[in-house]
Amino acid sequence: MIRTHRPRDSESRAARTIRVVDYPARGRRQDRPSLMPPMTLTGVSLNLLLQAIRDQYQLPWWGLHGVTHWARVYENGLRLADETGADRDVLLYFALLHDAKRINEAWDQGHGLRGAEYAATLRGSHFDMAQRPFNLLFEACEHHTDGLLEADPTVQTCWDADRLDLARARILPRPEQLCSEAARKPELIAWATERSLQRWGPAFLDDAWATDGPAAERGESPS
Ligand SMILES: [Fe+2]
Ligand SMILES: [Fe+2]
Repeated sequence: MIRTHRPRDSESRAARTIRVVDYPARGRRQDRPSLMPPMTLTGVSLNLLLQAIRDQYQLPWWGLHGVTHWARVYENGLRLADETGADRDVLLYFALLHDAKRINEAWDQGHGLRGAEYAATLRGSHFDMAQRPFNLLFEACEHHTDGLLEADPTVQTCWDADRLDLARARILPRPEQLCSEAARKPELIAWATERSLQRWGPAFLDDAWATDGPAAERGESPS
């Protein structure tokens, strides 16, 4: 069924009405392999980090801004990184942390800065990162909803990776709102948009990114 939706999320201030096809609320397709290799993580267990994030997350784990969104953001970033030269560790932690401190699924003023500050509290105990890449991570998280275009290529790639997953919130990514040439390619936008509409969930959600806890028990986000 085709119907017209009004955007309900405000990741971008350029929300506009689009026509979308109805898809399952949570399109985890285990029969389709992930396009991306497993993430690299050194020093500290990714599972411990994810579990810590989940234990404090205030919204549905599988919801609009939850872990499947983070997984797509990470894969979007990896797909861009070959061209942009982005730091892949920064991409990973941005994906996991930029929305980790949301308190609602709509316009959540300040959640970027809260995520950046949360990253600072976890650094050293739940993940390791040198000062320069951490500065990039902090900037990427803090300003990811500000609509900025100019920044370090790693920060730009983080922002593009997030904006390329806007279709799940009934917002089409627009080339003029993307930072990098790599992200503005029509075929890349189409690829990411299709995955976003389907609520695509990579297979690593069930192993490398597996967690347990009450956030999942709150069920699906209405969308
Ligand atoms: Fe966000
Ligand atoms: Fe996001």
